Parts: sequence; structure tokens; C-alpha cells
Amino acid sequence: LRPPRLAGRRLLVSAGPTFEDIDPVRFLGNRSSGKMGFAVADAARRMGAEVTLVAGPVSLPTPPGVTRVDVRRAAQMREAVLSALPGQDAYVGAAAVADYAPAETLPQKLKKSGESLTLTLVRTPDILADVAAHPARPRLVVGFAAETSDLETYARDKLHRKGLDLIAANDVSRPGQGFEGDDNALSVFWRDGRRDLALGPKTRIATDLLLIIAERLEAME
Ligand code: C5P
Repeated sequence: LRPPRLAGRRLLVSAGPTFEDIDPVRFLGNRSSGKMGFAVADAARRMGAEVTLVAGPVSLPTPPGVTRVDVRRAAQMREAVLSALPGQDAYVGAAAVADYAPAETLPQKLKKSGESLTLTLVRTPDILADVAAHPARPRLVVGFAAETSDLETYARDKLHRKGLDLIAANDVSRPGQGFEGDDNALSVFWRDGRRDLALGPKTRIATDLLLIIAERLEAME
């Protein structure tokens, strides 16, 4: 009997959206359900890995045996991810991190007044790029890319620009895959390779992605 494929590996996964607060009752968010990242965490644990899951605001149960850290904003997600980095073999950035956040969070509820309202937004930190450039960088840094056209071009650009080892891209313009649903299809790219994972349940896609991750880790030894 062979040991499980990820036995002895440590994996850090981020999942879900981030919510960026405008005031005590309002926020900017996105439609990420967290299902893909939670499926990756669950499958990695089943494959023998020690898994830490940094989760944005989602209503999903913690996969058995997984250590979960809950966060809300991109800045908090970054802190949680960076402090969990030392000793990880791989980071899988499956969170849909907000790209912009309100420049300030108001301490009181914003009152309506004029006919229009302008919010000033500022860029959030790119957690994935920060992980890839970190002194405690895991050997394998994996990103996700949700695209609506030219999948390979944009995914490969992201792979190089952010200094990643692997990128899992999905075409969110196709019905039935990507955000919110239970199914997904991924094209996985690395420097000199590509593999397509056909449309199926996120649980199966997660296992297939982890088999590629296991293979890449083994190839590095
Ligand atoms: O550049 P883009 O947002 O499309 O890249 C998506 C990938 O980058 C995902 O893996 C996501 O988790 C990560 N990301 C991040 N921090 C951000 C924005 C995206 O870690 N601020």
C-alpha cells in the first residue's frame, strides 16, 4: 500500500471573498462562495496533507481535520496568510480578494444626502504576489485566474507577473462553471506545461488539481 499522495506535506489555502467595509452596515464584496478553496482544503487533507485554510466571510462548514482561520478584509487575509507561511510546502490562493477597498471605513453609518455619492477606493495588497516574493516562500505557489476571454494568454501573463509556479484558470463567461456553482472546469498552466480538467464537481476538480500539485512537488525533489 502506498502512502497518501500528500502525506507529510503542509498546504496553506485561501478561500472565499473579502468584504471591505464602508461603514458599520455596508461593505464592498463579491460573489465568491468559497466552494473551490474549501474543496481544495478538504481534498488535500484527505490526501494526507496538513492543511491550514484562511477563509473570507463564507457560510461553509470547516472540512474535517483542517485548521481554519477566519478573516474579513484583504488586509486581514494578508496578515493571516503571511503569518502562516513558514514551513508550508505550497500556497493555493483560491480567494477572490477585493482589488480595491474604501480609503477609509467610516465609524458611523453614512447618511444619504445628495443625488450622487463618490467613494474613494484604494488598491488592496496583492496577497499572492506578496507570498511569491516572501522570504518564507513555499516551494510551490499556486494562483487562480478567472477570465472571460483569452484564457491562456492572461493566465500565463499572471503566472510570470506574480512569480507563480502554477496557475489554475477558468473561463467564467461559460455557464455552469466558476463562481457560486458546484461545478468547475480548469486549465492549469505552469512554465512548460498545461493540463485541462474537464467540467465536473468542484470536489473532483480539487483532487485533480492536487494531483498536479503533488506531481510538481515531487518533480522538485
Ligand atoms: O490578478 P487577479 O486578481 O486576477 O489574480 C487572481 C489570483 O490572485 C487569485 O489566486 C487571487 O487569490 C490572487 N489575489 C490575491 N490578492 C489580491 C488579488 C488577487 O492574492 N489582492
